[in-house]
Amino acid sequence: MSAEIESYSTERQIFKPGRNFQKRAIISGPQSWDAAIRKAEKNPEAFWETAARELLWRKPWKKALQWKPPFARWFVGGKLNVSENCLDRHLDGPRRHKVAVFWEGENGERRSYTYWQLHRETARFANVLKSLGVAKGDCVAIYLPTIPELAVAMLAASRIGAVHNVIFGGFSAEALKERILDAKAKVLVTADGGFRKGAVVALKACADEALKSCPGVAKVVVVKRCGTEVAWEPRRDVWWHEAMAAAGASCPPEALDSEHPLFILYTSGSTGKPKGILHTTGGYLTQVALTTKWIFDLKDADVFWCTADIGWITGHSYVVYGPLANGATLLMYEGAPLHPQPDRFWQIVERYGVTVFYTAPTAIRMFIRLGEKWPARHDLSSLRLLGTVGEPINPEAWRWYHRVIGAGRCPVVDTWWQTETGGIMISPLPGATALKPGSASRPFPGISADVVDRDGVPVPAGQGGYLVVKRPWPGMLRTIHGDPERYKSQYWSQIPGAYFTGDGARKDKDGYFWIMGRIDDVIKVSGHRLGTAEIESTLVAHAQVAEAAVVGRPDDVTGESIVAFVTLQSEYHPDAKLGETLKEYVAKNIGAIARPAEVRFTEALPKTRSGKIMRRLLREIASNGQVKGDVTTLEDFSVLARLREEE
Ligand code: PRX
Repeated sequence: MSAEIESYSTERQIFKPGRNFQKRAIISGPQSWDAAIRKAEKNPEAFWETAARELLWRKPWKKALQWKPPFARWFVGGKLNVSENCLDRHLDGPRRHKVAVFWEGENGERRSYTYWQLHRETARFANVLKSLGVAKGDCVAIYLPTIPELAVAMLAASRIGAVHNVIFGGFSAEALKERILDAKAKVLVTADGGFRKGAVVALKACADEALKSCPGVAKVVVVKRCGTEVAWEPRRDVWWHEAMAAAGASCPPEALDSEHPLFILYTSGSTGKPKGILHTTGGYLTQVALTTKWIFDLKDADVFWCTADIGWITGHSYVVYGPLANGATLLMYEGAPLHPQPDRFWQIVERYGVTVFYTAPTAIRMFIRLGEKWPARHDLSSLRLLGTVGEPINPEAWRWYHRVIGAGRCPVVDTWWQTETGGIMISPLPGATALKPGSASRPFPGISADVVDRDGVPVPAGQGGYLVVKRPWPGMLRTIHGDPERYKSQYWSQIPGAYFTGDGARKDKDGYFWIMGRIDDVIKVSGHRLGTAEIESTLVAHAQVAEAAVVGRPDDVTGESIVAFVTLQSEYHPDAKLGETLKEYVAKNIGAIARPAEVRFTEALPKTRSGKIMRRLLREIASNGQVKGDVTTLEDFSVLARLREEE
């Protein structure tokens, strides 16, 4: 953690909720917001219990929270099923034949599923999983593009109490292997391929490669998405469509303990090994359902589009579980935002009459760069609410989004949260909150976030500090899969008495939070979270590399980009070709999202006397070529001089 956090932002503009929006909003007016926050503050557990009662429980809980720091259990003794809450519950009333999912493939293919159809598909696939030997508690790995089968596979796993582990389709065979092994998956669900930027991403080929080292995976279910040729292992591989045709359409949902594991999702931290974040059933669904309803003001007539890939937490919580738990209509798009033209997103908004749109700042900055002519080609008047997530949004981008996409009419909810938090933690409520561009506003009712110093003492308004959460919350991660010690030390030991988020922030005099970004060794490229240590250990694994240090450099579109400082083994010499080779090497071993924008060769890396690489200096060099900070602990000043010369 860096020693000091300075905050310079002085954004002053305020946008109050429009009268029309406010009139119809689920939470309407600043008084309702304040009242909800105050009420939850007095008795947070009672607040979350009220939220949990909106779900269908097979057995009521005995106790809202059991807190043995840092291990929490929510709705203790209660039993429920996530897929039953997302599907079966909606079949008895007018939502039975309501569209649950509109899906559009990158190649223009379109499908839709009503709640009844999605239920039937899910029950079928749950039977397929059972027939492949998957039992309660087993892990099912899923490596698919954003296609409806991905949601079906997740829901089917949850239906029988299996634990899903979705791996982003852009990850390499190596990354896939690591996650499958760590999660001990028994079955893998994949596709022949997926469409991205007009090309086919060969998922099955990657899976075949990964599975060479995963003897625990006995069966692979393959969705025919692209119709490309794939290698086939007859004893192991089954086609999705064939297995589905043979399966029955009835599969009663299992009543599962509230703390039964729902999924593991891997994310990057400050060490080389990705962390398997474990989320459980009752608390997760409660928080995700309520935040979806209040923050996205979701009603039956809405079409909700969260543009995230389902391989990330945003896709889990706000493409799949949150909207379905609310009986909403959601939209899912498989491909790249600019394909075949930069107006693809706006074309989709117009075609389906999207009303609530949730995306990442990096996408907004990309659209700004491409110009207003692209959204101007489409009728975006169906939109009534906009959201952002994943990284700080700069006020200019916020205002552009509000003015150009929202025509000045749609509130923008800037939502702060993490893979670990399960659901949104800090966010405006659109019918109640006066918005300040660049601020995620205040914590959601029942969430005790604060900005503190290293000793856990709240810092005065306007001063930067560490963003923490002081009380357990229902959607919080329960542990790191297989590593409770790391869970403790990573999240609950750095700041006394609180969960440390890894982010820096400040609060203004109105209690609004301004997130300043990660202060650990995690970088955010296009909103994707990458551990510098993970990229470094990959680089060092290359035969010619002796040492590597990776830092983020500010980037106008992607937020940050990756710069790798590399020293070579003495017998090798740097050249541009090797730089390209190393970039490719990282992309191949982790995935294209981790490809460095720049590789800089250096004779040595700046280190403290105790041997720790001084990333702060490298960050400064990567950003502006100069070093201003304190260098008194630096071991060898000549290293710094050389790095500068090598500009
Ligand atoms: O640094 C914060 C940033 O994203 C991190 C969490 O990344 P990940 O687990 O990949 O989850 C992203 C989607 C929930 C946080 O520690 N972050 C997320 N949302 C915001 C944000 N930074 C500023 N403003 C946000 N709204």
